[in-house]
Amino acid sequence: MPVRYHIAERMKLLDASGIRKVFDLAAKLSDPINLSIGQPHFDVPAPAKAEAIAAIERGFNKYTQTQGHPELREAVAAEAAEEFDWHDDRHYLITSGVSGALLLAFMTLINPGDEVILLDPYFVMYKHLVHLAGGKAVMVDTYPDFTPDPDKIAAAVTDRTTMLVVNSPGNPTGRVYTADELKAVAKVADRAGLLVISDEIYNSFCYDEPFASPASVCENTLLMRGFSKTYAMTGWRLGWCTGPAEVIEKMTMLQQYSFVCAPSMAQAAGVAAMGCDMSQRVAEYRRKRDMVHKALAKPFGLKKPGGAFYAFVPAPAGQTASEFVTRAIENNVLIIPGSVFSERDTHFRLSYATSDEKLAEGLDVLIRLAG
Ligand SMILES: Cc1ncc(COP(=O)(O)O)c(C=O)c1O
Repeated sequence: MPVRYHIAERMKLLDASGIRKVFDLAAKLSDPINLSIGQPHFDVPAPAKAEAIAAIERGFNKYTQTQGHPELREAVAAEAAEEFDWHDDRHYLITSGVSGALLLAFMTLINPGDEVILLDPYFVMYKHLVHLAGGKAVMVDTYPDFTPDPDKIAAAVTDRTTMLVVNSPGNPTGRVYTADELKAVAKVADRAGLLVISDEIYNSFCYDEPFASPASVCENTLLMRGFSKTYAMTGWRLGWCTGPAEVIEKMTMLQQYSFVCAPSMAQAAGVAAMGCDMSQRVAEYRRKRDMVHKALAKPFGLKKPGGAFYAFVPAPAGQTASEFVTRAIENNVLIIPGSVFSERDTHFRLSYATSDEKLAEGLDVLIRLAG
């Protein structure tokens, strides 16, 4: 008897065709120069590895509390207390990465038809998760320099708008918002009564000025941070979220019926990771950022990105980003067209989370192709 099943209608709202095309092209290459990777090229710090192994050995392998192991929750709450002067009753939730936090948040906060403002270009997951939750992603264009324009945000607000997603330092742009820019955005959010979702997964990777969080200027913020980028723990699935008590409480309930908890040994390791000094790694990435900027400023008109480990580079005149990316891949360099992260197809994302040698090789090819 043939297997019978129905794919749920909501799956039609998801689309991976843009990135699949890149993967299909890439699959034909045997040893590409890969500048498409969204994770650090260094390994997890040794004390975090040792603690994960020790945790497994001592039997810390069971479900933890749904809201997270108390020791890790206390550690992240202490980090937040040091940084923020909050007066309201904040709760904390340990999640399976920031992805887990985003899914729980959108499922908890979006009613069918609710509108969520995304700043374009945006991290690819936001749009799809908003749609999956029944909401409508409303894009506010931030080209050419990826500055969040408060007037444009205000103009996008309707009586269905409930949230604004902010991601600084940003993926794919590497743009870091200044404290003043955040204040202006917070003012609009405040006036319109929007909850700000602040994805701060790249908060450690700020190269020119100290990191500024929307949560320091707007209490009505659901703040998310993770271990994937700062500590290179992408496969360990660990993040955390803090916000208004009721929101966190409902997200925790949903976690109980879905993820149950973040991986136990990763939570133990997370406490150890937080004690590690990552400044050498950040300095290394600052140097790589400078290398990319120096190489691409002239031929591509790239402005210096301030954080994360990405550059969002304008494609050469007369071609779409997808066309340029296809040529780059034909020349063995993997990069991602901006259309994966944007309503526009004018830029490509380059990740410099790789060795200096590979990066230099890749930059040479791109410069040659631009000429
Ligand atoms: C902006 C942004 N948010 C969230 C994530 C997901 O991170 P995690 O590994 O914590 O789920 C990523 C990963 O690339 C990201 O770039």
